[in-house]
Amino acid sequence: MTLPPAIEAKGLFKVFGRNPKDAVRRLRAGATRADVADAGSAAVIDASFTVQPGEIFVIMGLSGSGKSTVLRMLNGLLPPTAGDVLVQGQSVTKGSATALRGIRQRSVSMVFQHFALLPHLTVLDNAAYALEIQGVGREERRERAREILGKVGLGDRADAMPDELSGGMRQRVGLARALTSGTDILLMDEAFSALDPLIRREMQEQLIELQRELGRTIVFITHDLNEAMFLGDRIAVMRDGRIVQNGTPEEILTDPANDYVAQFVQDVDRARVLTAGSVMAAPAATTPVSAGVRGALRVMRDLQVGSVSVIENRRFLGTVTDRAVIRAVKDGRTDLRAIVHTAHAAVHVDDPLTDVVERAVERPVPVAVVDDAGRLVGAIPRVTLLAALGNVPPVTRENPVIDLPATVPASEIIQTLAAVEQPMAASPASRPTAATVGAAPGGRPAKNGASGTTDARATIEGAAR
Ligand SMILES: Nc1ncnc2c1ncn2[C@@H]1O[C@H](COP(=O)(O)OP(=O)(O)OP(=O)(O)O)[C@@H](O)[C@H]1O
Ligand SMILES: [Mg+2]
Repeated sequence: MTLPPAIEAKGLFKVFGRNPKDAVRRLRAGATRADVADAGSAAVIDASFTVQPGEIFVIMGLSGSGKSTVLRMLNGLLPPTAGDVLVQGQSVTKGSATALRGIRQRSVSMVFQHFALLPHLTVLDNAAYALEIQGVGREERRERAREILGKVGLGDRADAMPDELSGGMRQRVGLARALTSGTDILLMDEAFSALDPLIRREMQEQLIELQRELGRTIVFITHDLNEAMFLGDRIAVMRDGRIVQNGTPEEILTDPANDYVAQFVQDVDRARVLTAGSVMAAPAATTPVSAGVRGALRVMRDLQVGSVSVIENRRFLGTVTDRAVIRAVKDGRTDLRAIVHTAHAAVHVDDPLTDVVERAVERPVPVAVVDDAGRLVGAIPRVTLLAALGNVPPVTRENPVIDLPATVPASEIIQTLAAVEQPMAASPASRPTAATVGAAPGGRPAKNGASGTTDARATIEGAAR
């Protein structure tokens, strides 16, 4: 049996004011919030979305865009002016009062920005409060609450009173209460917004962990895009009452539906959102270990690159650099396996770019990307990484920037620079390209289009600015 969606919002409208129905009619015909101001305040306009079981669905938008109003319609706190809400296939708007109460008790719980704890109850009894309302016996509800308090990191504060807790701890009790209630769906309205940044980050990570462990469905409201991107399996962006985009964090980041969303995503911490797989290029320089040292040298010479990935039965073994190969050739050695640099561990396709950045600063060669089976599926040269992090559009610029591998000694850098700068001054038309020093030629462009030599230059300049 397939489960119905956890939540379905169908053409939801909420207009506060004198003539809500008239406002809805005009909004359906394309009027904006401002157009219908005479008839009422259009908080939510034609919002439709589906939240699947186990998903974290984020609703994001500026203050006043209608987020809280949507949330209140999801659990029946506010009746919509038009449209319908289904929770696990059951209508919230058309059911009886009893049915609605049932849905709220069994299926949906809420966590707010300033979670109100009952001041005269201990942390444990506060966490168990929802179960008390559900009529669960004292021992059982305390046992369940104790277990959840442990999960949110408050195991040792069960007997404390709310006024003995910090704001972050109180918020955790609120979360614990919602989790203890055992409902499948959690609605969280700016639940972490009042917390200071470090605690907030910690709570975000904890929520993801709890989500993995407990598999609840979460609708999370925030006006912070970084938070939205970090938490959301999908994100709905609201503006002036309407949902203007609904997609995965990557879709929203790489393909914003309009200028409004694009402006939002400008400030996103892209490293936390993008994965290695979303920015990698095809691995251009590879050689089988059986081709030996000379095989590796040939690939480097043909492609004009300073390193190659060595593979065996499609699995990634490590990388070799031009210097290691040349030394081996001089010493008369032929076995490639002996000089493969295995410390250049690969990243997994699903790893966030933060992990790639760490690897990329440690070494000059492109970071190899592997799948579950350890097969080499892509490569991320440093320029591609910088492009992805800076979201640099593919533009062509005048001046080449030479990115020298970090392992080259300073004397060689100076010599190389002297060598390339002289012809540049003499004849601007024959400037060297960056092809030999960073970007893997022939690679598939990264998703945002910034790859290859000209883009690579623009990227480094962009990143330096
Ligand atoms: N009860 C009400 N009566 C009249 N107007 C309301 C009412 N509730 C909300 N509104 C209006 O509806 C719009 C959306 O409000 P809502 O609280 O849903 O926004 P929000 O996105 O949650 O904002 P915030 O980020 O500030 O919490 C606002 O313009 C608000 O003034
Ligand atoms: Mg709100």
